[in-house]
Amino acid sequence: MFKNKNILIGITGGIAAYKIIELIRLYKKNNANIKVIMTENATNFVTPLTVRTLSNNPVYIKQFETDNLFPEHISLGNWADIFVIAPASANTISKIANGICDNLLTSIVCAFSKPIIIAPAMNCEMWNNPIIKENIKKLEKLNYNILYPEAGFLACGTSGVGRLCPIEQICEKTYEKLKYKNKKLSNKKIIITAGGTRENIDPVRFLGNYSSGKMGVALADAAYDSGAEVVLINTFNHKSNYKTITVSSAIEMQAALAKEKQNADCIIMAAAVADFRAKKIQKHKIKKESTDDNFTIELTRNPDILTELCKTKSNNQIIVGFCAESENLLENAKSKIQKKQCDYIVANDVSRKDIGFASDENEVYIIDKNLKIMKLDKTSKKIIAEKILEFIYGEN
Ligand code: CTP
Repeated sequence: MFKNKNILIGITGGIAAYKIIELIRLYKKNNANIKVIMTENATNFVTPLTVRTLSNNPVYIKQFETDNLFPEHISLGNWADIFVIAPASANTISKIANGICDNLLTSIVCAFSKPIIIAPAMNCEMWNNPIIKENIKKLEKLNYNILYPEAGFLACGTSGVGRLCPIEQICEKTYEKLKYKNKKLSNKKIIITAGGTRENIDPVRFLGNYSSGKMGVALADAAYDSGAEVVLINTFNHKSNYKTITVSSAIEMQAALAKEKQNADCIIMAAAVADFRAKKIQKHKIKKESTDDNFTIELTRNPDILTELCKTKSNNQIIVGFCAESENLLENAKSKIQKKQCDYIVANDVSRKDIGFASDENEVYIIDKNLKIMKLDKTSKKIIAEKILEFIYGEN
């Protein structure tokens, strides 16, 4: 996620400083290079030794203490791709907003032209102070990325808004800001299917499933952001800057794919396609009186769109399936990639409430043809989508 990226962290004096220890670990786990500046006050809350050990780098505290040829506020600034100030105290926020540079951290901010993220944490009365509010507004106008604090129980014993936002949110914002949009998919056509198909029974009823289409849309957005020509075949209406075709049933989805697939470099079947449809769609609403207590609808099998695509795919086309399971996730996923003969399968556990259908987050495994498995830890569907594309196009 952060391979070859240099993240500079600024820790100021606040009890939430202890949470930054976990943030450093999270960044490191995702391959970032980390250097940390602490204000003198921050050292009252966490020890520089802990920070140094976890970041694998010296910790910078005083402004004028090394024999470095370059002043630290210039060399650290040059080194960093992004500067993340967390927790940002009311004092540091106000200094930055007023151009004061009386310590290493604020001096670096003053000379830094790359993205800066500020994650404030403080007592709720301080947060509500109109001067602090003004300063935050001013910073936002100047393109600083503010991650607003959350409401909750505060270390000072009161409740209110002032708690540091979750470290995962800081990590995601960092990723978003660093994501280099060099349009690396600019010569690719990528088709993505999304949503759950609806198989009509009569004019008012259908067979459906819980798919929200969010994962497919996240993939389409990510592919578009990377410069690909995107076609999203979705069962929901979705406004976007790329081509979107709205379909309802599996048969309609298959027909839309048939029209679009010829010159596609990659097809990602994120849609939850119904395996069966009503054998006969009733022209008029089925009336209660016309049925008995054990009413039966005769179903017929839908085509397996993914399997058919794989049978007829051109040599360099990449075809990706999804696999939603409520049990035996990896075994089922492995058997599906072998049965359907796609290039990759993305497996997720839909029995979990915190990920999958309708959720904004996901945790998936990507499996390739050699049954090599890669886990993408739980994060937003947006980041999962970016990572899936990076994986397919050899960036992991
Ligand atoms: N799929 C498809 N056509 C179908 C059913 C599924 O193209 N008629 C695709 C889905 O879009 C997904 C993959 O196949 O990419 C796996 O879908 P899933 O519902 O997990 O598996 P099924 O093949 O339907 O098997 P089962 O329902 O037994 O789990």
